Amino acid sequence: MKSLEQRIEDHIEKLAQFTETPTHGVTRVVYTEHDTLAKEYIKNQMHELGLKIAEDEIGNIFGTWEGVDRDLSQVWTGSHLDAPTHGGKYDGVVGVFGALEAIRLLQLENYKPKHDIVLVIFASEEPTRFGVGCLGSRALTGMINEEDLEAWIDKDHLSLKEVLVQNGCDPKKVLTEQLAPEKIKNFIELHVEQGAVLETEHKEIGIVDVIAAPTDIQLIIYGEQRHAGSTPMSIRKDPMPAAAEVVLLVEHLTKNNVSETSVGTVGKAVITPGASNVIPERIEMTIDIRDIDAEKKKRIISELSKGVTTIMAKRELSYQFTIKSDDVPSRLNKEVVQLLKESCDEVGCSAKVMASGAYHDALIMSRQVPANMIFVPSQNGISHAPTEFTATAEIVTGIKVLARTIEKLSQ
Ligand code: HGY
Ligand code: MN
Ligand code: MN
Repeated sequence: MKSLEQRIEDHIEKLAQFTETPTHGVTRVVYTEHDTLAKEYIKNQMHELGLKIAEDEIGNIFGTWEGVDRDLSQVWTGSHLDAPTHGGKYDGVVGVFGALEAIRLLQLENYKPKHDIVLVIFASEEPTRFGVGCLGSRALTGMINEEDLEAWIDKDHLSLKEVLVQNGCDPKKVLTEQLAPEKIKNFIELHVEQGAVLETEHKEIGIVDVIAAPTDIQLIIYGEQRHAGSTPMSIRKDPMPAAAEVVLLVEHLTKNNVSETSVGTVGKAVITPGASNVIPERIEMTIDIRDIDAEKKKRIISELSKGVTTIMAKRELSYQFTIKSDDVPSRLNKEVVQLLKESCDEVGCSAKVMASGAYHDALIMSRQVPANMIFVPSQNGISHAPTEFTATAEIVTGIKVLARTIEKLSQ
């Protein structure tokens, strides 16, 4: 029988093969062949552990280890398998194979859970395809409506609704298939920290008490497409300098002017037609604003919206400022934070209670059920990059803490 360390390294290498960009990190987008292959790989592993496998309409996958008393509420654990563009090998997958290995560890100890333990692979956590993250957990918690299915569009101008239909799914069912909160005792997610706090403070485990929430904005600025050489500066309607002013405004507003914990990122900008000698006809950009303080985030968004209006009026440009998703930060379950501390004592590892700057399905799940997270360190705090790395021994510690905690929760 392979060691836990060996199995972890096998999972990481096998899953990393399912990528659109084999020479540059892991890119795994929902409802693509790579996404399906990764999910199939884990489903086979679930099967080997004797878990009862089920899937829902949007593509969440559930592997249930049936408890002694099926009427009791369930203990859910898991994460996601999709990866951002040129991402790393650890984001999401550690929480999926980690849950699998935690269950295996308990089975090897001949543990018999009273409550069902459910390993969940959420359909899609990254906003890569439709500009909005956590599609699977949003569907489960009733946070997707008819308009969203039509409004969330991918790069091929297909809506989430069209993609679901293409995949033989019924969009109506996606809107109605929701979890029953009273049937879930807790959802607990193991994840890489994606920051440098644990490494800097030499702690082995992060116990998350609050998760920052994103506001995802799409800004389209319309210019007048003209010749770069023969058009005098005085008559141009150029969207590019306007976009530059907006990027600097995002930085100004989030750099400790309103909040100490806010962050703002313009990660994507598409210039059309995108030629060196053409004044652009339009620029489409994403603006990602986050904070653990809901009120301050709201203030930043309102200042940003007013600032964009002023910039566009001054430059006489038309634009579209669309808030695609606007989530509220979430404090996680205090009792299970305590349980996690006890698990860390039992495992004999150091731990720190901390915030998560990244969002996760646990943020969405916490709207309806008690949710918690366990972090393991990210080397140099790097994530969403090919150099993302967490040592196997650190993942082993995370799995042991997860196993002890789901044991406590399912007794
Ligand atoms: O962006 C995030 O925080 C998550 O990794 N999708
Ligand atoms: Mn991510
Ligand atoms: Mn993630």
